[in-house]
Amino acid sequence: MKGLLLAGGHGTRLRPLTFTGNKHMIPIANQPILFYGLKHLAQAGIQEVGIVLGPLHEGIREAIGTGLAFGLRVTYIHQGDPKGLAHAVLCAREFLGNDPFVMYLGDNLLQEGVTEFVRIFERESPDAVVGVTPVEVPQQYGIVELDGDKIRSIEEKPAKPRSNLALIGVYLFTPAIYPIISALTPSGRGELEITEAIWRLHQAGGRIVPYAVRGWWKDTGRPEDLLHANTLVLRSLPPASFDQLGEVSAGAKLRGGVRIGAGTVVDDGVEIEGPVVIGSGARLRAGTRVGPETSVGDGVVLDSVSVRRSIILEGARIEGPLRVVDSLIGRNVAITSRTPLASELTLILGDAAQIRL
Ligand code: TTP
Repeated sequence: MKGLLLAGGHGTRLRPLTFTGNKHMIPIANQPILFYGLKHLAQAGIQEVGIVLGPLHEGIREAIGTGLAFGLRVTYIHQGDPKGLAHAVLCAREFLGNDPFVMYLGDNLLQEGVTEFVRIFERESPDAVVGVTPVEVPQQYGIVELDGDKIRSIEEKPAKPRSNLALIGVYLFTPAIYPIISALTPSGRGELEITEAIWRLHQAGGRIVPYAVRGWWKDTGRPEDLLHANTLVLRSLPPASFDQLGEVSAGAKLRGGVRIGAGTVVDDGVEIEGPVVIGSGARLRAGTRVGPETSVGDGVVLDSVSVRRSIILEGARIEGPLRVVDSLIGRNVAITSRTPLASELTLILGDAAQIRL
């Protein structure tokens, strides 16, 4: 069994903002999104993973290297222009050989990982396993209609959905998928669609097992999705992940799970309510209140700021008095405020933004 982790696509943009680096490297609970996929593949016993890269791929190879830190052997596959998820599979054809493979969309997060996909495959030897979960707006997803545990129809972004069961971004395929993909033509949006390939595999008599995933699943396409994913991941962190390596003053108050990285200094009078993760080399000054459900990157400086349900990327500097909620604050952003504001602010800011209030 091999792994195929997709990190291609249109690349760096997290609409409508500009973040330096590839969108798959934006941290959730202070770890790049892509790392979660790698860990899940390793946990399922997979040892060889191909990572599909698009035209804008800075930072990915540098951070993952050979994959050794994840217990994996990683091969990089250049897709070039994003011509669709099924096209990415064709680009990986040589790497995948004749092995079955778990395909994982790199901007997705799946609470339970992919072990169950592999188990189903080992137990039932189907031609494919597809993860499904109920969604609120089926018009935005590939939708599967079931008859018992059998597939009746699959449609990409249907105007009139026949069910609310969406295909999530994790699939297990066998080489039976290759001739199907090779016969595809580009869809209306110019891509080779994996949803179409799955439907055709079904029509050709292939046996596809739909697997209703347990726990949450999140596609991190928009800033609000990233924030929600951050909350979900922080809430699911095991107690052992909340180690405190930094310097916490006796007069600081910490409650719940709080991780504090090496070299971070938490001053007297600071309050932190977990779950919260704080990177290394950060400084939290008096009058600051962090959490719950907040990730603070390396080297961030917070002074007289209250921040909850937010992600603050490395090197940002916020000097209050200021209250911030549901915010995504890019790398090296600088915010200063001179007078207290009546209300909490929600800020979605790309890298290096500067704000004076
Ligand atoms: P999408 O979010 O469907 O595509 P995108 O990243 O190009 O989207 P946007 O237009 O919003 O920028 O992609 C899902 C995942 O699959 C994501 O991790 C990127 C990856 N991908 C590829 O690797 N190759 C492709 O050709 C496409 C379309 C996506």
